[in-house]
Amino acid sequence: MTPDQLLTASASALQDTALPTLRGAVAGLPTYVPGRRGAGTDIAALASNESHYEPLPAAAAAVAEAAGTMNRYPDSAAVELRERLAGHLGVTAGEVAVGPGSVGVLQQIITGLCDAGDDVIFAWRSFEAYPILVELAGARPVRIPLDDAEGHDLHGMAAAVTDRTKVILLCSPNNPTGVPISHERIEAFLQSVRSDILVVIDEAYVEYAEAGSGPDSLALYRRYPNVCILRTFSKAYGLAGLRVGYAVAAPDIAEGLRRTALPFSVSALAQKAAIASLDAGQEMETRVAAVRQERTRMAAQLEAQGWKLQPSQGNFLWIRADDSLRARLVDAFDAAAILVRAYQGDGVRITVADPASNDRVLGLLEAHSA
Ligand SMILES: Cc1ncc(COP(=O)(O)O)c(C=O)c1O
Repeated sequence: MTPDQLLTASASALQDTALPTLRGAVAGLPTYVPGRRGAGTDIAALASNESHYEPLPAAAAAVAEAAGTMNRYPDSAAVELRERLAGHLGVTAGEVAVGPGSVGVLQQIITGLCDAGDDVIFAWRSFEAYPILVELAGARPVRIPLDDAEGHDLHGMAAAVTDRTKVILLCSPNNPTGVPISHERIEAFLQSVRSDILVVIDEAYVEYAEAGSGPDSLALYRRYPNVCILRTFSKAYGLAGLRVGYAVAAPDIAEGLRRTALPFSVSALAQKAAIASLDAGQEMETRVAAVRQERTRMAAQLEAQGWKLQPSQGNFLWIRADDSLRARLVDAFDAAAILVRAYQGDGVRITVADPASNDRVLGLLEAHSA
């Protein structure tokens, strides 16, 4: 065959060839459903547990200043941010790993620890990204249903541990139910599970929790080196759009997480904003206190309306609802231009925001209470 004939022959063979395929784990992956978004002045965006406040002024100024360095790669090791976090938390920078949001760090945790076929245990319902990240790594999600009080069934979780268990995820306060796990219960749990299992305490909403309602996770970490604390700047710090979160873990684990990170995944803007936010303690505390106050006001009014709620320690409220109530509520919220998060078979989660938006929620739910 001449070279031209060869090319023609291979081109027609190519036409018969199947398209590239995704890995089986990816093809079967549930799609992450983001909180619904909308634009318009009358829309109340209460679907993603974001802060309704504008970014802290110091963070906005840091971003404006860092914007002039966008032609440069960020510090991939995030040395300054890790050192500042370490000082803030009373650990060493070697025990801190940062990533693009705490969900990015969680991906580093799961891909860093799990081989195909390993088990990752978590409560369900909890943060929707858990099963996705676990399946993506080829590991096996083990979902343990929440207890009757919408909290973690730690006995059930301990009983689900097998030789294949590599990681356990505890979410406190739990998304979407808002229920924290007490310090004592986590400590008893830690005493009952093998020390070679990494127990991640996901504290994405910890700043909103009343003191003492959840664990003193740093104390637990110091006592149990298989604890890993996961936190974020996305929620109370109001930097959801910049993508920066972190883990505190034993030095070898933290070092492994840093190695599994995508290079340069936390932008210089995000690093600078996070550092500036750490300094804005009092301002942040004032904002958090206002959300807590609104959460208490809303919960009291909803209970007076006849809704049965578990006390939430997050910046959101949870209404358990069967599918018919859920559908009714979603229709009503949609019609009122209030974006909330609905979970099939489970209920509806509503972010606590500014008093005017919260009043709209209260008014709508009053019309639908039993
Ligand atoms: C419990 C929990 N963990 C982690 C995250 C991830 O947040 P981010 O990646 O923005 O830090 C979320 C976000 O909703 C969450 O609810």
